[in-house]
Amino acid sequence: MKGVIFNAVEEAVVGLYSEDTWDDLLDAAGVDGHYTSLGNYDDAELSALIGAACPMTGHEPNELIRILGRHAFPHLADRYPELVDEAAGTHDFLRRVNDIIHPEVLKLHPDASPPSFDFEDRPDSVLRITYHSERRLGVLAEGLILGAGDRFEEEVDVRIVSGAGEATTVFDVRAVKVQGG
Ligand code: HEM
Repeated sequence: MKGVIFNAVEEAVVGLYSEDTWDDLLDAAGVDGHYTSLGNYDDAELSALIGAACPMTGHEPNELIRILGRHAFPHLADRYPELVDEAAGTHDFLRRVNDIIHPEVLKLHPDASPPSFDFEDRPDSVLRITYHSERRLGVLAEGLILGAGDRFEEEVDVRIVSGAGEATTVFDVRAVKVQGG
């Protein structure tokens, strides 16, 4: 996984907890933690960090990945503001991840292998998103989707339709503008 993802997770941990927590996590996970944005690191390091963070934070792994994804999103988005600012709202932005954002990421990081997504409009402002990746990190996608909702000031509700924790996960994402927001 690209260092830019580890950097965003680090920023999420520091924002939610503290610098010391991040340092303790690195020690507990047995990783050195010098992640450069362009570097590529073993996915097992991310799993080790999550594994070490669960007992420290009291969260279950999936809950923690969702929280970290949500809070990592603004840091990831801040690195690529032009990719986020052009979107009209959460659904529009999410559709761009597959066709514009991850392909742009691949130009900058040819060794990255981001997930792919399919989209289907459903009734009642629901966008059905199908995540595909052998990394089985659909729950991270869920957190990032919630983070995108925060960014666009929309109330976002994500329901897993099928395939939780599998290489193909289907989500129904409902996004509604926050009143007065
Ligand atoms: C500005 C926004 C975004 C940027 C710049 C971005 C960039 C990236 C990068 C660099 C990776 C690492 C790929 C690798 O190391 O092989 C990645 C992975 C990932 N991205 Fe995005 N991403 C963005 C938004 C999103 C959103 C909104 C979602 C959810 C719908 C998403 C879902 C994921 C997931 C789940 C992964 C983990 C890898 C996997 O599951 O295979 N990303 N992204």
